[in-house]
Amino acid sequence: MSRPTLVTGGTGTLGRAVVRRLRSRGHAVRVLSRRPRPPGEPGPDRVIGDLTTGEGVDAAVADVGTVVHCATTNGRGDVRAARLLTEAVRDAEHPPHLVYVSIVGIEAVPLSYYRIKLSCEGIVAGAGVPWTIQRATQFHDLVARPAVAQRRSPIVLAPADVDCQPIDVRDVARRLVELVETGPAGRAPQLGGPEVIALADLTRRTLAAEGRRSRVLSVPLPGAIGRALRSGGLLTRDHAVGEITFDQYLAERTNATHERRH
Ligand SMILES: NC(=O)c1ccc[n+]([C@@H]2O[C@H](COP(=O)([O-])OP(=O)(O)OC[C@H]3O[C@@H](n4cnc5c(N)ncnc54)[C@H](OP(=O)(O)O)[C@@H]3O)[C@@H](O)[C@H]2O)c1
Repeated sequence: MSRPTLVTGGTGTLGRAVVRRLRSRGHAVRVLSRRPRPPGEPGPDRVIGDLTTGEGVDAAVADVGTVVHCATTNGRGDVRAARLLTEAVRDAEHPPHLVYVSIVGIEAVPLSYYRIKLSCEGIVAGAGVPWTIQRATQFHDLVARPAVAQRRSPIVLAPADVDCQPIDVRDVARRLVELVETGPAGRAPQLGGPEVIALADLTRRTLAAEGRRSRVLSVPLPGAIGRALRSGGLLTRDHAVGEITFDQYLAERTNATHERRH
């Protein structure tokens, strides 16, 4: 029988989709999380651990065939996490294939989180373990977030003249599971969503889907970050392979909210 797949961050936005896809394809799945599974909630095996302290990491990696690394601390802790995880993978009796999820355009856009992602890519690629790096564009959930975060405001701010190519986590999960099945690929082809749309327009669509009348105010982002974003730093037009559109995502989200309320 093939060895299980470990999903770090298997409780997160992408990780949950990866876990679902793996299970639907018949893979045995293990999740690394800092929290125990809530009582009564069904789901795969869970190892409790913390990638920034190293707690539980060796146990999580033991006997797995692949690690899909979806966990993120959304900051500096990611570098330490990547280091601890790659060491655990290297020290395993049969080192598993390590798949790291990264972001399109991280060398073009000088955001601090993107610098951290670049460092993590370097750690994964240089660790002497079987590896794959999969870069993707922004997830639909992330793009819909500014409108959610400014929920009470009659005016919602969005960066002016910035295009985005959002992708659904189910499309990313499908690719990641293909990589689990085909094995180490080094730098895999980038993964972009099906459409390029202005961020301000995506915010307007999110507001409309939520039945809100707030006005979207486009604000130019200053400095090098603004310039990089305006010149298409987040895009990968030649890899527009995602299938699920942002409007589909919004419609499904609206239906799910409606069903929960009725
Ligand atoms: N969001 C985007 O638009 C986007 C686009 C391209 C690539 N990516 C990349 O895709 C990956 C997944 O992003 P996401 O948005 O799905 O993340 P997310 O929803 O914020 O989930 C983060 C996950 O990380 C886990 N985690 C956080 N700190 C941890 C720690 N110290 N030890 C162990 N686990 C920890 C959390 O698990 P517990 O709380 O259960 O411990 C959670 O499941 C990230 O690498 C991100 O950079 C994101």
